[in-house]
Formats: sequence, C-alpha cells, structure tokens
Amino acid sequence: MGSLLPLASPDLLIVTIMLSIQGLSFSYPDGTRALDNITLAIAAGSSTGIVGANGAGKSTLVNHLNGYYLAQEGSISIGNTKICKKNIDHIHKLVGLLFQNPDDQLFTARVYDDIAFGPENLGLTPAEISTRVEETLRELNLWEMRNKPPSHLSQGEKRFAAFATLLVMKPEVIVMDEPTADLDPKNRRKLINLVNGLDRTKIIVSHDLDFINDTCQRVCIMNKGRIAANGPAKDILCNRELLESNNLELPLRLQRS
Ligand SMILES: Nc1ncnc2c1ncn2[C@@H]1O[C@H](COP(=O)(O)OP(=O)(O)OP(=O)(O)O)[C@@H](O)[C@H]1O
Ligand SMILES: [Mg+2]
Repeated sequence: MGSLLPLASPDLLIVTIMLSIQGLSFSYPDGTRALDNITLAIAAGSSTGIVGANGAGKSTLVNHLNGYYLAQEGSISIGNTKICKKNIDHIHKLVGLLFQNPDDQLFTARVYDDIAFGPENLGLTPAEISTRVEETLRELNLWEMRNKPPSHLSQGEKRFAAFATLLVMKPEVIVMDEPTADLDPKNRRKLINLVNGLDRTKIIVSHDLDFINDTCQRVCIMNKGRIAANGPAKDILCNRELLESNNLELPLRLQRS
C-alpha cells in the first residue's frame, strides 16, 4: 500500500486505518433498505468479525468492500483509494472477497483455471503463475482435484476452491462471508489456522461465533442495516445481554450447560 490514513484513537494510540466506511447506505431495487448510515474504520493488520442475525445486512455490507456493490450514499476507502468505478481494477487487487455462495466465485470449467484466472491479470510470468497456483492448490488440499469441474466438488471443497481464488492473489485485505459453512470439524480447524496465519487485514462474516472468537480481535454486531455494537471480541462475545438483544447467542464454548 502506498499511503494509509493515520488516526488518533481516543486513548491517543496512533492506528493506521486500512478500511474506512463513511455514512454508507444502500437500498435494493425493490426498496429494501439493507444498509442504513454505516460508519466504520478498520485498522490495518487487524481481524474484525461481523456478526448479526439473518437479514441484518452483513453480506450487503461486505459485498461493497471490493466494489461488487457501489455506494449509493456515503463512501468507502481502502487506504487512500476510494472505491468507485474508476478505481475498480486496483480495488480488486487490494481486496479479496469470498462470497457467501461459492458458486458465485467459481465460473470456469476446471478448478485449476478458476484459481489461475486472477493471477493471469496481474502481469506475472507464466512460470510465476503456475508456481503460485500450484502452491495455493496444494495448501488447500485441492491439487488432486485441479482438473475437475468446480460443479463436481463437494460443498466444503467448493468453499476451499473459492478461498483459493482469493489467496492466490495475495490481497492486502481479505473479506470472507460465512467461510465455515459446509466445513467439517477438521477443515474448520484448518481454516482457523490458515486465517490466523495470514498477515493481512481480515474481515470475517460468520454465524459461527466460536470461529469469530478464534480468529478475530474485534467484533461488530449488525442489526437491521446498522452497526449495533463495535468493540474488542473479548468484550462483545461474552456479553450475553448485548448478543441476545441482537438475536444472537453466546459462542458455544461460553455457554453454561
Ligand atoms: N437482491 C435483493 N433484493 C432485495 N432485497 C434483498 C436482496 N438481497 C438481500 N436483500 C435484503 O436485504 C437485507 C439484508 O440482506 P443480507 O443478505 O445483507 O443479510 P445477511 O446479514 O447477510 O443475512 P444472512 O445471515 O442470512 O446471510 C435483507 O432484508 C434481505 O431480505
Ligand atoms: Mg449473508
């Protein structure tokens, strides 16, 4: 990243802001107001969980973070780059977005080609591309499946293949929408280790609050298109009253039997 926006937090620590959302609102064509005046700053290198009940606006919010949806009101910046049509190619290199539905991410006839598609647009040599693609496929246990059509993968395999399309690009910001859906316990653990090993700015949407607890330092709760709470994960995720008032429950490991 070239320049980032420094911000003095209330306790006077200087934090470098990677992602800044100012007054973002969004309505779908049928009139549903999915986002209502969202303002949020995310520190570079941090890991933020976004949680909330079904329909709270989580996917609508994160689908703005790489320009898939463009702001109708308000603005979003990655570092000093505003997300707008003119900057979209640059934004796609900076921000990798894992869609909630992996079928939205995989569109070629071969797993290998889906993973190679992004790097082919980065100006790398063919040798660099094949090294990167092979490393990523092997890391996610997909190498043996590289010649399969994505539609023939299991749901969990598809989710890893969709994740591979992001990882192979080495983006500054990684945004994941429900990454643990469909994963068995061993692959869920593998994903926790992978995410925790990524030295990037991470934004993770999940209903799996134990996963959020294992991977995020901060948590935002969304409710009806607004940010209802934003704070350290250790405070938010053990606050039963706050969670229940937003139609959520304590992470399983914090629930008393
Ligand atoms: N294409 C669409 N057209 C109209 N309304 C939509 C559309 N997509 C989503 N919505 C509405 O926008 C609101 C927010 O939806 P969104 O998908 O962002 O919620 P979410 O928090 O991601 O929910 P979930 O946890 O179920 O994934 C909901 O009220 C939903 O019905
Ligand atoms: Mg969603």
